[in-house]
Amino acid sequence: MKERISKLFQERFGNTGSFYASPGRINLIGEHTDYNGGFVFPGAIDKCIMAEININGTDRVRVYSADMDSYVEFGLEEKDAPQEQWARYIFGVCREIIKRGGVVKGFDTVFAGEVPLGAGLSSSAALESCFAFALNDLFNENKIEKFELALIGQSTEHNYCGVNCGIMDQFASVFGKESCLMRLDCRSLEYAYYPFHAADHGYKLVLLNSKVKHELVDSPYNKRRESCERVAKQLGVETLRDADMAMLDAARDSISDEDYKRARYVIGEKQRVLDVCEALEKNDFATVGERMYQTHEGLSKDYEVSCEELDFLNDVARECGVTGSRIMGGGFGGCTINLVRDDKYDAFIATAKQKFNDKYGHEPEVIPVVISEGAHKL
Ligand code: GLA
Repeated sequence: MKERISKLFQERFGNTGSFYASPGRINLIGEHTDYNGGFVFPGAIDKCIMAEININGTDRVRVYSADMDSYVEFGLEEKDAPQEQWARYIFGVCREIIKRGGVVKGFDTVFAGEVPLGAGLSSSAALESCFAFALNDLFNENKIEKFELALIGQSTEHNYCGVNCGIMDQFASVFGKESCLMRLDCRSLEYAYYPFHAADHGYKLVLLNSKVKHELVDSPYNKRRESCERVAKQLGVETLRDADMAMLDAARDSISDEDYKRARYVIGEKQRVLDVCEALEKNDFATVGERMYQTHEGLSKDYEVSCEELDFLNDVARECGVTGSRIMGGGFGGCTINLVRDDKYDAFIATAKQKFNDKYGHEPEVIPVVISEGAHKL
């Protein structure tokens, strides 16, 4: 990827720049909990967005997306927002840095990525984090704190891309560490690294991409968040982090059936993340897997962010004796994440490919998980 970017940069701009990369993420458990002040448990993966960037001495940003073969130029004032959705991620990051009193001036860049788009692996957070990290290095002497870089990415989604996302994806992309998952408390923003050595205990993590494209922009994602906020307000708490089932049930009559189900899922998921962290400390992978299946059930039936293809993959996982399986990320398509014992792995992959192909006419993409480092300069 680096060579390809380098060649394109040279051809287009006639010089060279510095290289930066930031990864996509997985999430073991803790889905749709971030914007509810709950816990998440993500890790960065070995698939990145990479950019070569050179300061150009003007007040214009000139961007070429190698994967989309698309070129866009924009200025750095609010009125200069580009139309192209992909360019708005970069424009948003520039604006959010400037709004916070940071410096961004004109630059040339070529970028490319290996994070599959719309697969629930946070390609957009990888793109935001790559530029937030790079512009901090190039124009701000790395004075912007790492957490602020993640918040810059999140604000970009809110203010320039129409997704009211939580902080998990940008946090994971910026803070990722090799072989470690991270438990983040999205209320206090305290986090801890958890070395994740499933392989030492005979397990693998693998993603199966249904290739049903999920699209969070203008999606029911924002509606889910609104449901949760509505219930929190009705219960008189700041976020659902501070609610429990007894409180929810006591207010049952004043909450719509739909909102009730959404909140029930979130309250259950909060506890499941804690259970998984505790189980991992004891290398109790059976409990980890059980909680993953429960999360899938909740996301499918109560939160209603699954789809037929992902439910199908989840059923196949169960049939094959996979330890844990669930839809991962925002939902509405994308991947399942599967915790599989080594001795079941080959049969599971073969069966999932075959059965999915028979039913949907194409195989799911198999993506082995490698937990890797976060945003960095090359
Ligand atoms: C998307 C959002 C995250 C998070 C997940 C669901 O990836 O960007 O903030 O809410 O969905 O857990």
